[in-house]
Amino acid sequence: MRITRRGFIRGAGGAAAALVATGLYTRFVEPAWLRVSRATLPIASTTQRVRVLHLSDLHVTNEASLRLVEHAIEIGLRFKPDFAVVTGDFITAGEAVEPRLGPVLQVLTAAVPVFASWGNHDGGLWAGRHGGFADLTTVRRLVEQGGVRVLENDGVVHHVGVQRVQITGLGDIWAERCDPRAVPSREPGVLSVLLSHNPDSKAVVTDRDWDVMLSGHTHGGQLIVPLLRVRPFVPVADRRFVDGVYRWNGRYLAITRGVGTIYGVRFNCRPELSVLDLVPPTAAA
Ligand SMILES: [Fe+2]
Repeated sequence: MRITRRGFIRGAGGAAAALVATGLYTRFVEPAWLRVSRATLPIASTTQRVRVLHLSDLHVTNEASLRLVEHAIEIGLRFKPDFAVVTGDFITAGEAVEPRLGPVLQVLTAAVPVFASWGNHDGGLWAGRHGGFADLTTVRRLVEQGGVRVLENDGVVHHVGVQRVQITGLGDIWAERCDPRAVPSREPGVLSVLLSHNPDSKAVVTDRDWDVMLSGHTHGGQLIVPLLRVRPFVPVADRRFVDGVYRWNGRYLAITRGVGTIYGVRFNCRPELSVLDLVPPTAAA
């Protein structure tokens, strides 16, 4: 088939317009287009349903990202969770901390107890080497001002009705602060939930006693090539576990894509908040 000059110009123009439209969508539409991801996890140590709102990777840097977090909180609370968790990366880098993050988090903590673990961006060894805070002082002040209980290699026993829930937060593995000794052995009937920013830390706690690890960090890859489902950018060693709920060694890994982004782009990988129901196996049957 002979391609005319006019046909060539028309085709090239169409391709350029499609490229620009995709770029605008990737930058301005999808990063703010939250979705809700829901899952039910049957767990033997539960005697009643425990609903968890799982937020992660807020990456608050400016007004727009703060509004997205506010929106995620508003949507999440509609599901009436028993408690909420935030698995790290409240901010992106040290120079751009948004002081209104604390008051926004207060909206969530006024409604439900909120527990958190730190991410690699919040401060510490990795952040200090990548333009962020060398320690957690600044972000801790903001987050605790918001009423969030941050658990770094520490845990609490939280009661949801008659259900006892052991919630343990691990330090970040890239900050070299993930200590498996923080995961306690437990009595029968205690549901054990780990908060760990980076799902790779599962390998560090493989010999410990827990039911489900809640993680973020991957952002789901942020960019997923359509049809091929290829994710070129996934910052984990074990790329089998990127987003969603997985069975792993008789336990669960629940990895959320997170609310925020870095570099401000997403394609075919919408930001999300996750609502997880941890239920007795009989309730799920
Ligand atoms: Fe992140």
